[in-house]
Amino acid sequence: MSLEKANDLVELSYVSKATHEMGLTSLVHLFDVSRQWNQEHQLTGVLFYENGHFGQILEGKRDDVLFIWEKIKKDYRHKVLHQIALDEIKQRLFPHWALRFYGGDQIAKDVPHLAGVLDGLPANDVELLSIMRSVASNNQYPET
Ligand SMILES: Cc1cc2nc3c(=O)[nH]c(=O)nc-3n(C[C@H](O)[C@H](O)[C@H](O)COP(=O)(O)O)c2cc1C
Repeated sequence: MSLEKANDLVELSYVSKATHEMGLTSLVHLFDVSRQWNQEHQLTGVLFYENGHFGQILEGKRDDVLFIWEKIKKDYRHKVLHQIALDEIKQRLFPHWALRFYGGDQIAKDVPHLAGVLDGLPANDVELLSIMRSVASNNQYPET
């Protein structure tokens, strides 16, 4: 891959099914490790967990995104059902979030009109991606 391509800013999105129901402690552990790595590599994005399914958007340099994507795909905690997209982007949707976490309760609180839709993440790519993207506009700064 040319250096220029490796440095492109990209957005990757996927949906996956948890191998077993994730408890709070497991989620917090997953989140902590992931956020730390993302922070160190200027990756940003959002992670959803809803009804035993994950949805994630990752933004960053193509090389970094593809590196972590290989690990994520092999992670025993889930089975990646579907990569939705890998697109070059001009700017990030989540510039201030190494990893924003969204669980069902938080989605219902922050984006009330989505609460009904999210009884299990929708199977439709376009709808799913638009829901994941929509929380970017609801952008308070993370606590540091
Ligand atoms: C749903 C899901 C999302 C993940 N997202 C990230 C992420 O954004 N960043 C990250 O560094 N690791 C993420 N991971 C964790 C990686 O799969 C992996 O466990 C981590 O990079 C540590 O890998 P290592 O044990 O080979 O060092 C995610 C795992 C799962 C199950």
